[in-house]
Order: sequence, then C-alpha cells, then structure tokens
Amino acid sequence: MELSSEPLELIKEQGQAQPSETDAPRMKVCIVAAIGENLELGKDNQLLWHLAEDMRFFKELTSRHYVIMGRKSFESIPKKYRPLPDRTNVIISRDPEYMFEECYTCTSLDEALSLPAENGELAAFVIGGGEIFRLALEQDVVDEMYLTHVNASFPDAEIFFPAYDASQWNKTHIKSIVADSQNQFGFDIFHYEKIKA
Ligand SMILES: NC(=O)c1ccc[n+]([C@@H]2O[C@H](COP(=O)([O-])OP(=O)(O)OC[C@H]3O[C@@H](n4cnc5c(N)ncnc54)[C@H](OP(=O)(O)O)[C@@H]3O)[C@@H](O)[C@H]2O)c1
Repeated sequence: MELSSEPLELIKEQGQAQPSETDAPRMKVCIVAAIGENLELGKDNQLLWHLAEDMRFFKELTSRHYVIMGRKSFESIPKKYRPLPDRTNVIISRDPEYMFEECYTCTSLDEALSLPAENGELAAFVIGGGEIFRLALEQDVVDEMYLTHVNASFPDAEIFFPAYDASQWNKTHIKSIVADSQNQFGFDIFHYEKIKA
C-alpha cells in the first residue's frame, strides 16, 4: 500500500539539467539503489528481497534513459529481462572484449558516462552494483540519488552500498510502501540531491 507519493514526472523534471553559464545543459548523474538498514545491496550476485513496487518505480524512472552498471550486476539480471528493455544498457568491465548484444561495454566509469553525455542526455542512471556505486561516489560525479530504504536488515549480505555523508545531501521523501504479498518488506523511497559546495 502506498502511503504518500509525489508524481514521478515532477521528480524527474526537478532532475532535469539546468542551463550552465554557456547555456549548454549539463547531464545529471543519478544513482538508483535499494539498500537495507545496514546498506546491504546483495548476496550471491542477487538481490536480497522481492519488492514489486520498487521494481515498478525503477522501471518508470529509468525507461528511455541510459543505465550504467557493473558487469556483475548486468549478469545478475535474469536472462529474460536483459538487456533491460526500453533503455540503453552500458556495462562496465575491465575486459574490453566483453560483449552482449544491444549493449555498450566500457572499461571505465568516465567512458560510460561520456556515452549519454555525448548523446545530449539530460540524465544518466548508475544502477549498481557495489563496486560501481563506490567508484561513482569516490569520483564525486553523482548529482542525485534515488535510494529505496528497505525496512529490514540482512546479516548474510555480501555486497554493500558505500557509506555516504548524509549532511552533503538534501533528502526528499517520495513514497512509502508497506509489506504485502507483492512486497516482501516495507520500504521508503527518497530522492537525494547533492548540496553544491
Ligand atoms: N540493491 C540494489 O539496488 C542493487 C543494484 C545493483 C546490483 N545489486 C547487487 O549487487 C551485486 C553486484 O555488485 P558487485 O559490487 O559485486 O559488482 P558490480 O559493481 O555490479 O560489478 C563489478 C564489476 O564491474 C567491473 N569494474 C569494477 N570496477 C571497475 C573499474 N574501475 N574499471 C572497469 N571495470 C570495473 C568489473 O568487471 P569485470 O570483472 O568484467 O572486469 C567488476 O567485476 C549483486 O548481488 C547485485 O544483485 C544490488
């Protein structure tokens, strides 16, 4: 059950690039992740939960955009759903020969981000996993985060979202979902915007 919501289009609009001094729009880099109470992301190259409403949110947010992910996250997507449909899939691997039909392979995050930027995209979505989230936050290239906070902890988790400094982000609540037959755990989705120095 949804407890509160803000239209996603409005949130996406707020995420549109603002004109710079040269009037050339700068692409926003957005992280999308679901995390447990202890920043858990996954185990055995899988997610730790089944949250149908979060999958719907993810699909609506990222459709028609570039999605950038590590090779392990790409391979964690069930075969029938990969490449993620209606999105440009970009895989990051150290192996330049790594290929998958209808996907781009890049050997660095920089190169991966240059693809949507050169295509004039206003936003690109970094969708995991732990190694790539860490890279993006360490390189300080992230403008926004859409974080689903799952109301549970997962002691068996092996992969974690990097610790981030909450004081550097403006946080807006998007929606709350309570556990039901489609959503194994309750969760809250928040939109984070990096506070510019
Ligand atoms: N909860 C969530 O929102 C969420 C989202 C996504 C994924 N996940 C989970 O996260 C787990 C996967 O995450 P992960 O951290 O193990 O792997 P990952 O970040 O998805 O991918 C790691 C791979 O990315 C490539 N890579 C990493 N750093 C690189 C660099 N500097 N330059 C070039 N390539 C680089 C390497 O590929 P090669 O080995 O091919 O060189 C590396 O093995 C799974 O359990 C998945 O289910 C959770």
